[in-house]
Amino acid sequence: MQKERKLIIAGNWKMNKTVAEALDLVHGLKRELAAIKEVDLVVCPPFTALCEVSRQILDSNIRLGAQNMSEQNGGAYTGEISAVMLKEFSVRYVILGHSERRQHQAETDALISRKALAVHAAALKPIVCIGETLQEREAGKTEEVVGRQLRGSLAGLNKEQMQETILAYEPVWAIGTGRNATPEQAQEVHAFIRRTLTELFDSSVAKRVRIQYGGSVKPSNARDLMSQPDVDGALVGGASLETRSFSDIIKNSI
Ligand code: PGA
Repeated sequence: MQKERKLIIAGNWKMNKTVAEALDLVHGLKRELAAIKEVDLVVCPPFTALCEVSRQILDSNIRLGAQNMSEQNGGAYTGEISAVMLKEFSVRYVILGHSERRQHQAETDALISRKALAVHAAALKPIVCIGETLQEREAGKTEEVVGRQLRGSLAGLNKEQMQETILAYEPVWAIGTGRNATPEQAQEVHAFIRRTLTELFDSSVAKRVRIQYGGSVKPSNARDLMSQPDVDGALVGGASLETRSFSDIIKNSI
């Protein structure tokens, strides 16, 4: 399908895969996806598998992403991982502000914006996640919540940095639940996000930013979701853990 922006589809493996399992998966993906040129392909393994996966995808069309990064450059921050450490493994993308981190690690929009600035300072690309809970949607607050998250998480980014930022709209009620947003629901919020980017930056920036949809993306719903005009890719959790389902999502999206 003809898209205004190149699709970017990323697999968020979350806290899954030993190194051996990770290598198995990327072997399969390399085999299945070698011919794909229409989509930017990204896998985001856990930190412990970045080194080995990085070696395996060196000669492929698959790029590497991390699931989080510290806003600090280094020093006494036990358990944290810096940009320099990620760059050692040729990481190109960093997922920031996933709803699971907002929920379990109490990440705030202010922290996410500091991390986004650190990601850009290292010439990496952030994938900034936003999305409302079921309660917020049912209360009619989706735009209020997503608007607030956008203003907070993107605070301080200049236009050049924003253009190199990927957004992932992930309604919390659709993550890992098997219940995806309908293509129309996704398009509605994606269009709102693009309007907000016009307000916060300008229309040429808003036109260039790629906005992924995430939340129970699978081979059977990928085509309809990706065919929406403002949906520019997907952030895939559960279905990215198997060669077959992740490859089929990509093949069904083009
Ligand atoms: P899911 O997760 O595809 O398993 O719903 C998406 C995500 O959390 O990025």
